[in-house]
Amino acid sequence: MTHEILSLAKYLAASRSEFSLSEMNQYLSKRYDEKDLHAILKPHFYDLDIFCSRDHKCTKLVKSPLPADEIVIRELEAQLKNPGLPLRMERLIEAYIEKSCGKNWNKGETATYIRENIMKQKEEYWKGKEESHYPGIRIISYLLYHFPVYFCQYQYLLLELFKGGVLMNKMRIIDVGSGPGTVTLSTLDFLRKLQDIYSRNKMDIKLNIRIGSIEHEHENIKCYKELTSGFLSSGGSNITIEEPVQSPVETAPVPDDCDLIIFSNVLAELRSLPHERADVVERIASSSKNPTLIIIEPADLDNSKALRLSQHSLIKKGYNVYSPCSFIWGRLCSGFNCWSFQEPGNIRVPGFMEKIADTVDSYRYLNTDMKFSSVILRRDGLTKHAYRAKGKFMALINLKKHIKKHINVAVSVMSGNLGDENTFVFKICDGTNSTPCYAVMPVYHMNEINRALIDTGYGDIVEISGALVRENLEQLSFNLFVTRNTIVNIVG
Ligand SMILES: C[S@@+](CC[C@H](N)C(=O)[O-])C[C@H]1O[C@@H](n2cnc3c(N)ncnc32)[C@H](O)[C@@H]1O
Repeated sequence: MTHEILSLAKYLAASRSEFSLSEMNQYLSKRYDEKDLHAILKPHFYDLDIFCSRDHKCTKLVKSPLPADEIVIRELEAQLKNPGLPLRMERLIEAYIEKSCGKNWNKGETATYIRENIMKQKEEYWKGKEESHYPGIRIISYLLYHFPVYFCQYQYLLLELFKGGVLMNKMRIIDVGSGPGTVTLSTLDFLRKLQDIYSRNKMDIKLNIRIGSIEHEHENIKCYKELTSGFLSSGGSNITIEEPVQSPVETAPVPDDCDLIIFSNVLAELRSLPHERADVVERIASSSKNPTLIIIEPADLDNSKALRLSQHSLIKKGYNVYSPCSFIWGRLCSGFNCWSFQEPGNIRVPGFMEKIADTVDSYRYLNTDMKFSSVILRRDGLTKHAYRAKGKFMALINLKKHIKKHINVAVSVMSGNLGDENTFVFKICDGTNSTPCYAVMPVYHMNEINRALIDTGYGDIVEISGALVRENLEQLSFNLFVTRNTIVNIVG
């Protein structure tokens, strides 16, 4: 019977731009309630290229970028200025913890046990993962401590893609190493925010989204299914969550054509070298026509540097960096010795985190600081910034020959302020330097012509004119000293 309904829907979708589900009864051998037809067809909306509204009107959906009007961007940015979990998400997580550990999970022995596990998980983070005999408690500790920050930070990358016109109304997304569903849930929340903004601005934007996942731990998949179905049920939309694939990513079936593939905090867990991790990423993306790959890693020195090496291996395999790196002189870097991360700020402390932190040394259980290394890759040459330096600018590779001279450079700002309130220090890069370079500006030199340096976003490009070159022999780095006479302009 499903076959008959499906072939009719296929026929109607191919021959008309709009039809209603009730209309289908004219042609079917048996009468159906519209609700039942909707439920039968829902898993097929994506392949049928249709959007069916709550009142059961189905329209053909033409794949196109999600409109990124100025007003929509402004509203989204305003929401991300105060990052935190939506209340509904907090409740779902707390309900999951309660179900697993009991109503009094934040009291007595249970709380002690959870806190011990949070500390153990943090140690593993620095020393490398050991096998756990308690996968159940691991996921609870993860939800309490790591999940909120990872959930929030991912939305800054979605915002970047949205602003660049890369997010589409029809997308297949794969969340690799999904854990409890951090990326999937964050995507659902982001799309919900976006849909609310569209509807407030009377923009009728229809979505058709399918999200799949790959994960090897059974406990994590159980949690993924419960949280994603719970979160999805709180708002009707054309978003389908596929049955998770339980497998090591190294041998998982290669997903069919995907638009967005995300490895969030996963590559660091693979027991392999950076170039081997790149092989894993490449294999998963191998059946996709023009995927956008997002790789996120912790910001610590080892993981962050390893990410740039994996990134470089992927470039050699035919990928290009969409962001954050800009190869301003058209030359690729080796990815060697590069420590660069983004710091969008702190998130609001979720209620469940406050509860587990309600003890001595509460700071040990509070994790609100977003800090991560990431790369977005494409295969079609699309980049966030198309800017290329020419003429009066000098490539950073030539700094050594210009010590104590004033020079002009065009560079990407690749860190937040690494100094303090008296001296601003920003990592800079133009893709030609293998020695770390920094722009250094004492606050007493800051004025209208150079303050753009502190106003830039991560990965943004600035032209710096008249900076003094200094060599830092102790740190084996170069500093470009920005004075009150140095001009800094944001470009690209
Ligand atoms: C640190 S968690 C990240 C979870 C989630 N992506 C996030 O950002 O919060 C790493 C996840 O990757 C999974 N994982 C690690 N190695 C894997 C492998 N070889 N194949 C599949 N999943 C793996 C772990 O089970 C875990 O759920």
